[in-house]
Amino acid sequence: MKLKPILKWSARAILLALILAFLVGFIAYWRSTNDCDRKTGAPANPMKAIVHCEYGSPDVLTVMDVEKPVPNENQVLVRVRAASVNPLDLTIRGPWLIRPILGMRKPKDTRLGVDYAGTVEAVGKNVTGFKPGEEVFGARDGALAEYVCGLADRAVVLKPPNMTFEQAASVPVAAITALQGLRDKGNIRSGQKVLINGASGGVGTFAVQIAKSFATEVTGVCSTRNLDMVRSIGADHVIDYTKEDFTKTDQRYDLIFDLVGNHSFSERRRILNPNGICVMAGIGGAGWHDRMAMRLAGELNAYVGSRFTSQKFIAYIANLNKADLTILADLMQSGRLTPVIDKTFKLSDVPAALKYLETGHARGKVVITLDYNKT
Ligand SMILES: NC(=O)c1ccc[n+]([C@@H]2O[C@H](COP(=O)([O-])OP(=O)(O)OC[C@H]3O[C@@H](n4cnc5c(N)ncnc54)[C@H](OP(=O)(O)O)[C@@H]3O)[C@@H](O)[C@H]2O)c1
Repeated sequence: MKLKPILKWSARAILLALILAFLVGFIAYWRSTNDCDRKTGAPANPMKAIVHCEYGSPDVLTVMDVEKPVPNENQVLVRVRAASVNPLDLTIRGPWLIRPILGMRKPKDTRLGVDYAGTVEAVGKNVTGFKPGEEVFGARDGALAEYVCGLADRAVVLKPPNMTFEQAASVPVAAITALQGLRDKGNIRSGQKVLINGASGGVGTFAVQIAKSFATEVTGVCSTRNLDMVRSIGADHVIDYTKEDFTKTDQRYDLIFDLVGNHSFSERRRILNPNGICVMAGIGGAGWHDRMAMRLAGELNAYVGSRFTSQKFIAYIANLNKADLTILADLMQSGRLTPVIDKTFKLSDVPAALKYLETGHARGKVVITLDYNKT
């Protein structure tokens, strides 16, 4: 068979595939719509919620009247008293890489937030685990609103009485990320030496305390201004990343919980014990920064490279569930886990809260309070 016709037909097939992909993308882009476009008159039973009709900076967020949810027979309706924000909420900027999931031209889901704490207002007829008036916390899309409604057997549990709504609302995404990263991916065991890179942020402040609850020796990496805070939540040692590179010391660790990803595969391997694990949970504080692409590429390289070594480099996405929220509630109740809250904002100031989170230097969690006289 001659090579020339094969090359000619291959080139035609590739060209056709490219044209088709372009057309599909073009149609998907212009057909993408959301409920802001479909709005028909005022809601019959309104509540206030944070809404974003377009992609953009936190300034695209507005407080709007939307329909208050009604629980079905398996759901609980919660009056939200506090919520918290996470790097995840910054997808409002609409990064192109994930727009095929979020919506090409406009966000498919116009509501924002996941973490909340509040009071049960109503329960469906099949719900046995909750009663109206009980205080709960949990995770549900659209949590930046006066009410959330979710299945009773999913990520919602009773709030420990010794925690405020603000403290409980700061827990779900960040603390579950820390718990699952250390326990399930890092296989944490008592007596191990654990290093937490990014120890002063939303996830890191939970990770330090959770690692200590497993009776490990914890080293937290943070900047100068956060050294005392990270020590105060239980870290045995702290490293100031502005003065010292933690990969250049003689110390060896069994587990690295890395929320920053600013060191190469070989640098991190050097400080891991031969069967050590590096859990790659994040690529730095919440803000979009120009090193993100490099860090993502570095983490991918570490993940693939570690398939051929005794040391393991693992990435994961946290899975929000009731069993782990219950473990975290027990840790809080027993005083072994106390959320670190940096700043609180009211619902109408969510844009300012996200701009603050976006600086990438939050110290613990950024919380939203719902004061029903002021929202
Ligand atoms: N895998 C998952 O399922 C999952 C879930 C949640 C979050 N994440 C990811 O985890 C990462 C952390 O999330 P977060 O909620 O903790 O974010 P965050 O609260 O915005 O983190 C802010 C903290 O990062 C610290 N930081 C920034 N640069 C640092 C550096 N070079 N070295 C050490 N610390 C540094 C800051 O400390 P200084 O102010 O001292 O610099 C600040 O305290 C993000 O990349 C997020 O996307 C992943």
